[in-house]
Amino acid sequence: MDNIWNKLLHGFTILAPMEGVTDVIFRQVVAKAGRPDLFFTEFTNVSSFASEKGRANALERLEVVESDAPIVAQIWGKNPEHFAELAGALEGLGFAGLDINMGCPDRHVNAAGGGAAMIRTPELAVECLNQARQATKLPVSVKTRLGYTYVDEYRTWLPTLLKEHPAALTVHLRTRKEMSKVPAHFELIPEIAGLRKAFSPETKLVINGDIKGLAQARELTVKHPQVDGWMIGRGVFENPYCFTDHQATRAELLNLLNYHLDLFDAKDAELKLQRAQALSEGGDMEVRGLAFEPLKRFFKVYLHSFPGASDLRTKLMECKNTVEVRRILAER
Ligand SMILES: Cc1cc2nc3c(=O)[nH]c(=O)nc-3n(C[C@H](O)[C@H](O)[C@H](O)COP(=O)(O)O)c2cc1C
Repeated sequence: MDNIWNKLLHGFTILAPMEGVTDVIFRQVVAKAGRPDLFFTEFTNVSSFASEKGRANALERLEVVESDAPIVAQIWGKNPEHFAELAGALEGLGFAGLDINMGCPDRHVNAAGGGAAMIRTPELAVECLNQARQATKLPVSVKTRLGYTYVDEYRTWLPTLLKEHPAALTVHLRTRKEMSKVPAHFELIPEIAGLRKAFSPETKLVINGDIKGLAQARELTVKHPQVDGWMIGRGVFENPYCFTDHQATRAELLNLLNYHLDLFDAKDAELKLQRAQALSEGGDMEVRGLAFEPLKRFFKVYLHSFPGASDLRTKLMECKNTVEVRRILAER
C-alpha cells in the first residue's frame, strides 16, 4: 500500500483533529473553502469500538466522504488489543492512515489512561503503537505534546517514539500542563528536528501549535526546512479559508454558513431515517437526529470579520433550529 506521508509535498498542511469540530460535516465545509493537504478525523476511542454498545457510535465518528480524501483516522485509548482491533477494521473504511493520540489533555481521557497520559506510560504507549501497526497495512503515526508536566521531557519522550519509527510524528509545541495557555515553543523546532534526524530520519515531522494559516506555514517552511508539514487547528475558527490565500467576502462567508446548514440538515434527516429503520427492524436505537445546540459554536467561524457580524451572531445564538437560522440569514 502507498504511504500517504511520502506523497505529500514538502511544507504540507493538515487540519488538526478537533473533537466536536472536525466531524464529517465541518470537513466538507473546509474542503469547499479550500482544503488542507491532509484531513484528520476527530479522535475515536478504541475501547468504544471494541464494545458492542459503543461500536455504532464509533463507526459514525469514522464516516468519511469523497472530499475528505486523503484522510487519517485518529484513535485513542490504552488497551493494546483494542488498538489492534480498531486498526484492523480501519483499512476498509477509506482511510489513508491512522494516527494515535498521545497528547489530549482532557482529564477524563487522561484518567482513562489515554491521550497525554501515555507520555507517563511510555512502554504502554509503544505497545499500543506496535499492536496497531501489526494489525494494519495503513501507515501509523503519532500526535503528541512536548511532555506531561515539564517542557524538557521532550528530550526523552520524543526519542522513545522515534525509535519505533512511526510514519509521522506530530508535535504540539506545548506540555499537557500548559494546555493551550502559553505560546507554542517554536524555539524548540531545530532541536526536535535534530532528534528526528538522529533517531528516525524516515519519520515525517509535523509541527502544531499557534499556526494560523497557509501564509504562516509557508514562512515557517522557509525558516525550518527540516520540518515536513504544519498542522493547523484553531486557525480555522478565525478563518475557514485558512488553507488558501483567499480573503473571503461577507457573501462568501454567509454562503459557507448556508452550506454548513445544508449539510447539517441532510445529516440530521439521514440519521433519523437510519434510526427509524433500525427500530422497525427490532433494534433499540432511539430515533433522534443531530443536536442543534452544538451547531451554534460554529457561527463565530463565519460571523466575525465584517461589519454587523457580531449583531447577526447574537441573533442566531437565540435560534432553536436551522429553519430559524435560515430565516434570519435570508432577511439580511
Ligand atoms: C475543540 C478542540 C478539540 C480538540 N480535539 C482534539 C482531538 O480530538 N485530537 C487531538 O489530537 N487534538 C485535539 N485538539 C488539539 C488540536 O488538534 C491542536 O493540537 C491544538 O488546538 C493546538 O493547535 P492550534 O494552536 O493550531 O489550535 C483539540 C483542540 C480543540 C481546540
